[in-house]
Amino acid sequence: MNFDLLISDLNSTARQGSDALLVLLQDGYKPDGAAKDELSALVAQALKAGDIQTQTGKLLALYKPAQARAGRVLLAGIGAGTPRQVRQAVTAALGALRSGAPALKKLTICFAAAPLAGSLRAAVLATADASYVYTTTKSKAEARGLARVTLAVPKGAPTSKDEAQAEFQKAAATVVGVELAKEWANRPANHATPTQLGAAALALAKLPRVSCQVLGPKEVAKLRMGAFMAVAQGSEEPLRFIVLNYKGAAPSEAPTVLVGKGITFDTGGISIKPAGEMDEMKFDMGGAASVLGAFRALAELQPAINVVGLIPSCENMPDGRAVKPGDVVTSMSGQTIEILNTDAEGRLILCDALSYAERFKPAAVVDMATLTGACVIALGAVRSGLFSTSNELAERLLAAGEAAQDLAWRMPLDDEYAEGLKSNFADVANIAGRAAGAVTAAKFLQRFTEKFPWAHLDIAGTAWKGGAAKGATGRPVGLLLEFLLAQARTSQVRPRKTTAAKR
Ligand code: BES
Ligand code: MN
Ligand code: ZN
Repeated sequence: MNFDLLISDLNSTARQGSDALLVLLQDGYKPDGAAKDELSALVAQALKAGDIQTQTGKLLALYKPAQARAGRVLLAGIGAGTPRQVRQAVTAALGALRSGAPALKKLTICFAAAPLAGSLRAAVLATADASYVYTTTKSKAEARGLARVTLAVPKGAPTSKDEAQAEFQKAAATVVGVELAKEWANRPANHATPTQLGAAALALAKLPRVSCQVLGPKEVAKLRMGAFMAVAQGSEEPLRFIVLNYKGAAPSEAPTVLVGKGITFDTGGISIKPAGEMDEMKFDMGGAASVLGAFRALAELQPAINVVGLIPSCENMPDGRAVKPGDVVTSMSGQTIEILNTDAEGRLILCDALSYAERFKPAAVVDMATLTGACVIALGAVRSGLFSTSNELAERLLAAGEAAQDLAWRMPLDDEYAEGLKSNFADVANIAGRAAGAVTAAKFLQRFTEKFPWAHLDIAGTAWKGGAAKGATGRPVGLLLEFLLAQARTSQVRPRKTTAAKR
C-alpha cells in the first residue's frame, strides 16, 4: 500500500481523483468564509443544520458534490482531534466506506483543519490497520483492495509543513514495520518455524545498515544457554538464536538491545495446555515479530543510533525428550533453575538471551514477550504491562507508547513479589503461586538483568486479537520505534557550552 502526503486545503484536495474522499472535521471547525467552492459550502451547510456533528465517529455520506472528483464523499467528526479520536474516527469511517459499494482502491483523507501533533500518524496507522489482509496461507488470496492513500492537510498551525512531513514519514515506516510483524505473527506455526524466522531475519540484513547472524543448536550449546535448550529439547524443530544489528551511529555509542520472545508454538510442554484456543499459541512469537518489525522500520528511517535485536526461538512441545516438571537446568548466567511448570517457558528462553545481551554493554535492554495469561487478566487488550528497573527508561517507554498510541502501563517490581520463586533444589524456581503472575514472571527475569538498565513489556494481551477478528496487531512496533527515534533525537543533541551554566 502506498501513502502520500499533500499539503493542501479541502477545496483543492476535492479535485484529486479517488474512489472516496474522507473529510475529517474537528470541533469548532468553520469552513473558510472566502472559500466559495461547493464542497466547503456543503460542509458548512451540513454543520449548520446539525446533519453532521464533530463528535468522534459521527459520519455523514454526501452524494457526489459536482466539484469532488471522488466516487463517494464521507464526512467524519474527530472531536478535539486528538490522535486517539482520529484513530477511532478513521476506523469507523473505513468500516462504513468498505461495507457495500464498489471496491475502495484509492482513498483520500483530508483534515479540514491542520491536525494536532500525532493525529496525522494516527490516521495513517488506522487506515493501514483497517485495510490489512492476511493472504499467505490462502489458496485464493483476496489481496488488499486499498492500494493508494493520500493524506491531505492544510497549511498552518499547529503543524508546520516540515513537521507534517516528518510525522508522515515516521507513520509510513511504522506501517511497514507493523505489517512485517503482523505477517510473521499471523503465519501458522508450521509456516513460521524457528528456522523460517531466522531466514526472515537474514532477509532483513539485505537492508542498509542491518546485519544478522543466526545461531543453531551447536553454537547455543557452546554458549551454555541451558535454560533455552531445555525448552527446545522437546521439539523436532531445531532452535535458532537470532542476532540482528542496526548500525546508525559510531561504534562507541552504546546500543539499545531489543529482546523478543520467539516461541513459535507453545503447547505448554509436559505441563500441557487445555485444547481450547490452543491454536492462538502460534502468536507466542509476537515479541520476536515486533523485533523484526522494529528493524524493518529502522532501515526505512535510518536514525543515528545503534540497536541490537536478540530473538531466542523454539517450539515448546511435549515429547520423550522433553524437559519435565522438577528438572533443574543451568542457565547461561550460571544460576540453576528448577522448572516446576514447563508452560512457564518464555522466561526460560528470555533469561539466557538477557545474559547474552551483556556482551553489548547496552545503554538499555527492552524485552517484549507474550509472557503471562495473568497480564491479560490485569490489563486486557488495551495496554501492555511495563516493568522496569529504571524510572527514566520506564518514563521514556510510557511516553513513546502515548505518542504512538501503542499504550503501556507500569507495573511493580517490589522484591516481596519474588518470595514465591524460592526453590529447595535450585537457585530459583520458574514459577511462583497464582497471585500476581505477571509480576512474578518479571521478577524471575530481573535476576538476569543486573548489568544494564532493563525494561520488560508483557504483550500477552496486546500482541493479537482473538475471536472473529483473530489476528496479530503488530504491537508494540509503534511504541518501540517511537522510543528509539526519541533516543536518536536526544543523542544527536550535543551538550551546549552556554554561559548560562556560570550563573
Ligand atoms: N505464552 C504463554 C502466556 C499466554 C497465555 C499468553 C495465554 C497469552 C494468552 C506463557 O508461556 C504461559 O503459558 N504462561 C503461563 C505461566 C504459568 C504456567 C506460570 C500462564 O500464563 O498461564
Ligand atoms: Mn507457556
Ligand atoms: Zn509461552
